[in-house]
Amino acid sequence: MDEPVGLRGRFLHRSRAMLARYMPTADNVRGPFYRANAPFRDRLCPAEEPGTPLIVHGVVSGLPSCRPLQGAILDVWQTNARGFYSNMLGFGNPASPKTFHLRGRVRVGADGEYRWFSIVPGHYPLWPFTRARHIHVVVTHDDYPALVTQMFFEGDEYLRWDPWAKASLVVPLVAENRLSDGRTLHAARFDIVLPERAESPQ
Ligand SMILES: [Fe+2]
Repeated sequence: MDEPVGLRGRFLHRSRAMLARYMPTADNVRGPFYRANAPFRDRLCPAEEPGTPLIVHGVVSGLPSCRPLQGAILDVWQTNARGFYSNMLGFGNPASPKTFHLRGRVRVGADGEYRWFSIVPGHYPLWPFTRARHIHVVVTHDDYPALVTQMFFEGDEYLRWDPWAKASLVVPLVAENRLSDGRTLHAARFDIVLPERAESPQ
């Protein structure tokens, strides 16, 4: 009796993934911890940053043609493994490496592909809630409206309580390979689809 359920489950999973390519990525709140002018880079922290090492990767495309958006920019920020943002109050010296710790701007390359390295973020309290693990992402491209969103991770116990968590923004966290320091590198694929630009009035 399990097989039909499993087959149906896999069919639904694949169908959802296929349909997601033609649906704009859901937006989300920007929150108070965005800091402008983060450096361009694909490593948001040093290799020895405490936590679970993480690669986030995916493809950015635009509707209605689903064309890959080379040249788009992802502005990303996240907490450390203990749930703290750098420069929480916004007074950090831009020249200090601590100011933009776990923040960065990532350029989307050929074929719309991107990737960055960091660690899995922590939970943090936002009374009366606890935020599920998430990474903030703002996507900009000259030909499309900006997208402000957040990505979340499957299996997080706080997803059900976090009022900002959206099912379509939750991605699997996949164990990749063991690193020389004994930790396991994980990967999360987060494909992003920008909506069609609204026609300007004639
Ligand atoms: Fe946040």
